[in-house]
Amino acid sequence: MAEKPQAIRGMSDILPASSDHWRKLEQSLTAVLDSYGYHEIRLPILEKTDVFARAIGEHTDIVSKEMYTFTDRNGDSLTLRPEGTAGCVRAGLQHGLLRNQSQRLWYMGPMFRHERPQKGRYRQFHQLGIEAYGIPGPDIDAEQILICARLWKILGLDGLRLELNSLGEPETRATYRKRLVAYFQDHIDQLNDDARRRLELNPLRLLDSKDPELQPLIAAAPSITDDLDDASAEHFQQLCTLLDKVGLEYTLNPRLVRGLDYYNRTVFEWTTDRLGAQGTVCAGGRYDRLIEQIGGPSTPAIGFAIGLERLLELLEPADAPVTPHVYVIANEPAIASALQTADELREEFPGLRVLTHCGGGSMKSQFRRADKSGALIALVLGDEELAANRVTLKALRQQGEQLQVPQSELVEAVHRTLSNAELSPD
Ligand code: HAM
Repeated sequence: MAEKPQAIRGMSDILPASSDHWRKLEQSLTAVLDSYGYHEIRLPILEKTDVFARAIGEHTDIVSKEMYTFTDRNGDSLTLRPEGTAGCVRAGLQHGLLRNQSQRLWYMGPMFRHERPQKGRYRQFHQLGIEAYGIPGPDIDAEQILICARLWKILGLDGLRLELNSLGEPETRATYRKRLVAYFQDHIDQLNDDARRRLELNPLRLLDSKDPELQPLIAAAPSITDDLDDASAEHFQQLCTLLDKVGLEYTLNPRLVRGLDYYNRTVFEWTTDRLGAQGTVCAGGRYDRLIEQIGGPSTPAIGFAIGLERLLELLEPADAPVTPHVYVIANEPAIASALQTADELREEFPGLRVLTHCGGGSMKSQFRRADKSGALIALVLGDEELAANRVTLKALRQQGEQLQVPQSELVEAVHRTLSNAELSPD
């Protein structure tokens, strides 16, 4: 027998049993973004490879070893987006959204990274990202952090920790980089091959290493905070004061450097201990230099992205599956009438979930299906009902008689039955 086809490793189907949960989460998140005046931007999943390589940085893990890149039929190098910021900037520049104006944008959808799959880390995963352009001050930094806190609150999530750092300007990073390289060179005999590779290509990433043996060395490494330029130090101080004033708790983490090259000044991560090694649920920061660096007007920018799989993992298990309110049963001569009746109810009560039995079968087996579906009401259209222009209504979850209802009174009768079950369809 031929082998069953399989999805690509690290890329999951979202099956009906969890898709309601996903949709509810997406609706809750986007309603909060609406309430802060952010607008959706929908971006292509494919971009020219250069868009990511230039923004994220050639020597980052993402660009050097995790991108899904291929040559298309025209010979162009294209890449499945590993994140949303680079494409958002490309779209902003292309459509003139960035010059002399401010924008608050969000996007949501799949991202692709060829990482080693494990719990909380996938090759296709979903992000909700937000980006704000044209606003230089720490007020927008504080607003974005408050948006996160608000999202956790409406989702009933507590225990997420906010870690905060400032990377200063590129010059700060250059000075710090030199100090860091000198420090690790002094301890080169304690570095394994991976750490030596990082030291050569992207020394700041050494601070991110999860290797337990390196932790004492990392803990004693020089801190970037000592190299901060005055303007960045003041920006950071103002942000911390704003967060103190609104009563939001945070931890300063001078080792927080982020894995993408475009950041400057504020960077932050929300983490939890409940997800094992992949504990970062949300991460972001400022990238005030990026737009100019890729040929656009100088534009301050800040954003973050939430990993939706990780967020879902933290939430309570999915609620009971969504069940129909009404299940319509019919024998063959009454099928057209059943389809029509179901549509009349949908028209009358937007939001009412009506399942019409399709596929035939005896009335008895159809009743069994109706019961199993979890519906509150069964409507029956058989020979007698058709002849008398009426419908039989049976409340499936309550005691009581079956009602014979004239077609013209059906809407009223369905409404009454649902109200008795304390379920308003409208
Ligand atoms: P990032 O830190 O690469 O930042 O990703 C943000 C979040 O996406 C992570 O904290 C994590 O929750 C989730 N994530 C990343 N990789 C995976 C994976 N392989 N499997 C599951 N979840 C994952 C960015 O992507 C930046 N674009 C964020 C940003 C927006 N900065 C400024 N604006």
